[in-house]
Amino acid sequence: MPKTCKYTARTADKHELYQLSVQAPENDSKFFARIYRKSHDGEAARLFREDFCGTAILSCEWAKLHTENQAIGIDLDGPTLDWGRKNNISKLKPKVQERVKLVQDDVLNVTSPKVDIIAALNFSYSVFKERKVLGSYIKSCYKSLKPGGMLFLDDWGGSEAQVLQEEDRPQDEGFDYVWDQDAFDPVTHDITCKIHFEFEDGSRLRNAFTYHWRLWSLPELQELMTEAGFQDVHVLWEGTEKGTDEGNGVFRRVTKGEPDLAWIAYVVGTK
Ligand SMILES: C[S@@+](CC[C@H](N)C(=O)[O-])C[C@H]1O[C@@H](n2cnc3c(N)ncnc32)[C@H](O)[C@@H]1O
Repeated sequence: MPKTCKYTARTADKHELYQLSVQAPENDSKFFARIYRKSHDGEAARLFREDFCGTAILSCEWAKLHTENQAIGIDLDGPTLDWGRKNNISKLKPKVQERVKLVQDDVLNVTSPKVDIIAALNFSYSVFKERKVLGSYIKSCYKSLKPGGMLFLDDWGGSEAQVLQEEDRPQDEGFDYVWDQDAFDPVTHDITCKIHFEFEDGSRLRNAFTYHWRLWSLPELQELMTEAGFQDVHVLWEGTEKGTDEGNGVFRRVTKGEPDLAWIAYVVGTK
């Protein structure tokens, strides 16, 4: 085992591994700021709400972007929020810390204060399996936004999303992230996904995270946003890296996508 590999199943922290392998909060915060500015003639969003925030690392990055930026992170899970306080918020400069607020609650219950942007990432809204419930979440987001405020939901799909498989993604830090599509029901679109981690010493952290979701489609999300009253509902589709089939992290507005085996996109609406 190389000396540089500090992670093993015994010593690693699942939230740290998740942040390293799943999230890109620096890019995401800048992305939301840019898209908002572009659609508001250069005016900046200041108050950002991160729904299903987990460890709230995105909220932290939002607050770091500008001295007037404020973030509110909402999550049901107290221990996860505590982890975020201890490991993310406490590492910010005191002045920045003051501009990040965490709320332990169901996202369905929170409609104030009114914010400029709401982002629900890594498909977390998929815990709402009934159309009625996801619809009421999207309506509650609508209520929570200032006029002109924007909602961003990411989505994933493609034929590979419905295949039971484990995808191994080696990380620069010396461990493997494993995305496990464990169960899928074509009748209900119920899907169970798990995250495992594997380490260079051969140890494994199985079932670090398990998600029981519904796999929602882009038309369904766009319809629900439109029904909730959102204007200019549209899809931002990820481009493909030349020479590989991988996503390149560049999202462009489209009205037509490609039948890729696996894709990621954002559905965006404005109040
Ligand atoms: C997939 S993680 C997302 C973490 C992070 N936002 C990200 O983008 O990677 C899902 C999070 O949603 C939270 N959660 C699930 N249902 C919720 C609800 N109804 N209201 C608020 N948080 C919820 C869980 O506690 C968990 O931290």
